[in-house]
Amino acid sequence: MDKIIIRGGCKLSGTLPISGAKNAALTLVPCALLTDEPLTLRNLPRLADIDGFQHLMNQFGVSTTIAGSRPEDFGRVMTFEAPRITGTVAPYDLVRKMRASILVLGPMLARMGEATVSLPGGCAIGNRPIDLHLKVLEAIGAEIELAAGYVRARAPDGGLPGGRFSFPVVSVGATENALMAAVLANGKTTLHNAAREPEIVDLCRLLVAMGAKIEGIGSSDITIHGVKRLHGATYRVMSDRIEAGSYACAAAITGGEVMLAGAEIEEMEATVAALRQAGVHVEPTQEGLHVAANGALRAVNLSTAPYPGFATDMQAQLMALLCRAEGTSVLNETIFENRYMHVPELNRMGAHIETSGRTAIVHGVAQLSGAEVMATDLRASMSLVIAGLAAEGETQVHRLYHLDRGYERLEEKLSLIGADIERVGDG
Ligand code: UD1
Repeated sequence: MDKIIIRGGCKLSGTLPISGAKNAALTLVPCALLTDEPLTLRNLPRLADIDGFQHLMNQFGVSTTIAGSRPEDFGRVMTFEAPRITGTVAPYDLVRKMRASILVLGPMLARMGEATVSLPGGCAIGNRPIDLHLKVLEAIGAEIELAAGYVRARAPDGGLPGGRFSFPVVSVGATENALMAAVLANGKTTLHNAAREPEIVDLCRLLVAMGAKIEGIGSSDITIHGVKRLHGATYRVMSDRIEAGSYACAAAITGGEVMLAGAEIEEMEATVAALRQAGVHVEPTQEGLHVAANGALRAVNLSTAPYPGFATDMQAQLMALLCRAEGTSVLNETIFENRYMHVPELNRMGAHIETSGRTAIVHGVAQLSGAEVMATDLRASMSLVIAGLAAEGETQVHRLYHLDRGYERLEEKLSLIGADIERVGDG
């Protein structure tokens, strides 16, 4: 297996292109199931998770074509076409590897009147139940059965009637599944306390481009008027606010100055506010976000929260940055119960972090030191890369498959802005 070697201490500077958003792409791709016409997605990031999803779509009889992009390009254009769906089962083998597979449940049910998806099972960052996905689909009119580790959803004869659901907690994935099911329902669906993440807005915009009728886009009360059919569309995936935030932390921890080309400040205000509190200069420009850190970093106290709060997906990367801040930061993880797996690894690099339940206390240290580290999830892996960029000596990051799931050509991008980083085979 490959590993990444980082020799820390280089100030990052220059321009780095931000890719299309993984979390948006993973809900835009299954929309291809909703129409028999082609769906073309531009700015799709080249990631293992997207390849996995493509494979899953192929299992359902969806054809995929990749437009001639050069290997050196970031992102690519893919067309998905599903004139006929040939299977409605998402098997354990694929769902186990890629949790986002659960997002085929809603659109498959809407198009075919039935869908069977393996239960995703446990996950490194917490229990991650799917009860809300099932409850909201039931509220829209589906019959749900659980058997042998699979969820089977069926629509009544004549299709889903639509319905009303109030989410007891904000769920991004369940809101996405509900939207993709409700757009083809016979009647109206209203969702209360729906997720408002920019990726949900991106999904709604694509659905509208395909002919869906949705009111309240970007708010927590969404009304969907079902339509008989949706048509094809060409759509550009939004830029990745988490990738942009991650590289902002990477630049800041090295005292560097970078341009994150294509990053949108409107979609990452909580991250920008946290960076500014930490003493990092962040300014929007026509090209993207300009990030500069030229003084001491300061401690920050915050809690993760659903959008527009501080994203759980940015917690590990900000924590890495705060390891080098003056003073003590307190972070509170409110979304997932087990999302501090990067802490012992950061401490092995000389950080001083204590955790108690959902709270992490980060005592800033003057210096981090390179070490061999490995992480158990995507954002945790990125936090170790960020720490490695500022650490004295060499850091080796193992288990790269996590990073490859969510960061498009990470080492190439970091090299572009002056990092001393390489990917090598584990020998
Ligand atoms: C979550 C994050 C999202 C992040 C993604 C990957 C939030 C609100 N969601 O989305 O920002 O990009 O992880 O890290 O920040 N829950 C249930 N039952 C369900 C579904 C969820 O109890 O059926 C709970 C979860 O355990 C969690 C909360 O609801 O505590 C939010 O989960 P949800 O938004 O659904 O998770 P993802 O869609 O994976």
